[in-house]
Amino acid sequence: MRESFEYLIWEVEDDIAVLTINRPDVLNALNTHVLKELDEWSNQLRSILEQPSNSIRCIILQGAGTKAFVAGADIKEFKGKTKTEAQYISSRGQRIFGQIEQLPVPTVALVEGYALGGGAELAIACDFRLAAPNAIIGFPEVKLGLIPGFGGTVRLPQLIGNVRAIEWMTTAKTVSAEQGLDVGIFNAILDDKAEDVLNQAKKWVAPLCSMAPLAVKNVIFAVKSQQNMNSAISFEKEAELFAKLFESHDFQEGVNAFLEKKKPVFQNK
Ligand code: COA
Repeated sequence: MRESFEYLIWEVEDDIAVLTINRPDVLNALNTHVLKELDEWSNQLRSILEQPSNSIRCIILQGAGTKAFVAGADIKEFKGKTKTEAQYISSRGQRIFGQIEQLPVPTVALVEGYALGGGAELAIACDFRLAAPNAIIGFPEVKLGLIPGFGGTVRLPQLIGNVRAIEWMTTAKTVSAEQGLDVGIFNAILDDKAEDVLNQAKKWVAPLCSMAPLAVKNVIFAVKSQQNMNSAISFEKEAELFAKLFESHDFQEGVNAFLEKKKPVFQNK
């Protein structure tokens, strides 16, 4: 593993590894540089995890600070991008999250604060999601005149069903830890006030780490493989639609409004 990343902190303690996305001033938003590092990290990690001597049994992903897991793709970078560039942004994000989804060791998103847009998409590419009491998860892309582009339109319905997925993604609905637990997007809420959430998450994953690693890996693979076989065309469609919206007036209005901290005025064009 590369010695150090600019925006990622990688720590291994016994059989649990923790990856922290570290850009707290912008709520850990995923810019090109963070995505490039996630790409490199997941590629290098895969070869480490495939070695028989590997002792990592679980990977926890978190955001730096208590305010956000990840507040989405970096909206500032969307400005001025062409449709072709947007198609690349979407396909690259899908590919990197696909690499994370396919790591041969269980991944757990520890959601403290906001997991929005690309942050929610990263969380649902993981095998488990744990919520801190202040967790807020959702897909606000429509507010920007956009759709999720890092696999959200494919993975969210698989997780919570079409009815809720369409409602969440068309209304930019955000849900709390409790609501997320009710619909099954979160596996558990970590609410022990006496202990920090990362320690609680480590305790939560301990039983998982004690199971036969090959069996754990194969349960996840068996459950996900059929879904993945049917998903390839849907991912392509998502990237195509995501990119097309970059040419719309309303997308430019949505991004400018976010950056200028104003309310967007959409014109259906
Ligand atoms: N991309 C780029 N910058 C982002 C960001 C994103 N997705 N999310 C937050 N930030 C930045 C803000 O621009 C702000 O930077 P500034 O201090 O230079 O103005 C900083 O992070 C703090 O965010 P702020 O909006 O001031 O915090 P808040 O508590 O008022 O609101 C959110 C928090 C998460 C509700 C709000 O930041 C938000 O809506 N973010 C965008 C979420 C989104 O649409 N994600 C999907 C993107 S496709």
